Amino acid sequence: MRMNKRPILIGIIGGTGSGKSTVARSIFESLPEKNIAIIQQDSYYKDQSHLTYEERVKTNYDNPLAFDSELLKKHLRELLQNNSIEKPIYDFEQHNRKKEKELIHPKDIIILEGIMILDDCELRQLLDIKIFVDTDADVRIIRRIVRDIRERGRTLESVIDQYLTTVRPAHLQFVEPNKKYADIIIPEGGYNQVAIDIMVAKIKSIIEEKRENR
Ligand code: CTP
Repeated sequence: MRMNKRPILIGIIGGTGSGKSTVARSIFESLPEKNIAIIQQDSYYKDQSHLTYEERVKTNYDNPLAFDSELLKKHLRELLQNNSIEKPIYDFEQHNRKKEKELIHPKDIIILEGIMILDDCELRQLLDIKIFVDTDADVRIIRRIVRDIRERGRTLESVIDQYLTTVRPAHLQFVEPNKKYADIIIPEGGYNQVAIDIMVAKIKSIIEEKRENR
């Protein structure tokens, strides 16, 4: 049964490889009701169809300007008004949006996860709960190397080169300073069960509050 109220929007931010997806999944799995949509900011990387593959490889993806933030905010507002959206799908191997889209129906809880969701003031204001996943840089780079080679079609050299030239500086400039906007900082991400339990208890109490006010 849906609440027919403004959904709850939870933002999960943290550096690359910090475990944002694991935190999102853990929250999803710990909540009894599954009326939840998980949206990745990565899906909203700008369409780069006008560029060649070589040009797309060279793009800096660790800058707020790499994202189609207007479309992301428009879609979040639609979901918050209980309307469906057609979410873009991102292809990390092609460094581009796919032609297909994914239909997302309105849900009671929307979890948005991404590296740069707290630097936009309008986006911040839409979020009911802001979580920062705080994981040491050495752990994050190891996770990223493994993931990018296994799942994103990258070489070890390309991951290291990208990390040193764009990812690391951007983390220090755009991600880390936004910790100050977070309501909660979770050390070590999705395997921190105490933090997940606290988050889930808070989300349940917001849901109950909404039900009582219905
Ligand atoms: N990125 C990339 N190539 C692209 C687009 C994005 O390498 N064509 C990288 C950016 O450099 C950015 C990263 O993707 O640093 C963002 O994804 P990340 O946060 O690492 O992945 P998640 O699975 O969302 O996060 P987590 O590992 O925390 O679960």
